[in-house]
Amino acid sequence: MQVSWEDIRQRVQSCTSCKLCETRTKAVLGEGKPDAALMFVGEGPGRDEDLQGRPFVGAAGRLLDRMLASICLDREDVYITNVVKCRPPGNRVPEPSEAEACLGYLRAQFVLIQPKIIVCLGATAARHLCGPDIRITRDRGVWHEKKGIWMLPTYHPAALLRDVSKKPDSYQDMQAVRVKLIELAIEAETRSENAE
Ligand code: URA
Repeated sequence: MQVSWEDIRQRVQSCTSCKLCETRTKAVLGEGKPDAALMFVGEGPGRDEDLQGRPFVGAAGRLLDRMLASICLDREDVYITNVVKCRPPGNRVPEPSEAEACLGYLRAQFVLIQPKIIVCLGATAARHLCGPDIRITRDRGVWHEKKGIWMLPTYHPAALLRDVSKKPDSYQDMQAVRVKLIELAIEAETRSENAE
């Protein structure tokens, strides 16, 4: 069954499927182009995101904006969301049961958006989307293809803020995304609304 954006928005706002609902201020569905070719999936909302109800709006989000700019894209060209839609207290890693309870929303977003490329920001997203054994330092920059969707694990922007020595690898991964967009002949389409 395909749900509409309105359905999924309402379900996420009123979701009580796991205990993260008890401590959230606002659930964060995600935002961006509703039919984006390129999607970014992070771990879960942090403090700023929980307060504003928008993904990646804090320091890590500002770095994500710069990463996008490095391949001539901005937020309006892509769709940005997280594995869990409610903030884990203290920004801890979501528990497996919390991620499981929330993954149906992410799958519904994939069905609505039909992305061609998904960038997994950090180990939590990469393990849930590419495979449970992923280690981000070892496996970042390696493409995974599932049902015609190309997925790339890379560092979470928050990890880059903690350790700037990871930045060159991260920018290399963004260039790999740009090359994949060109290979799939969707680069111009992805940027088209900026150009108009
Ligand atoms: N970290 C995430 O994983 N997601 C956000 O939305 C913000 C910070």
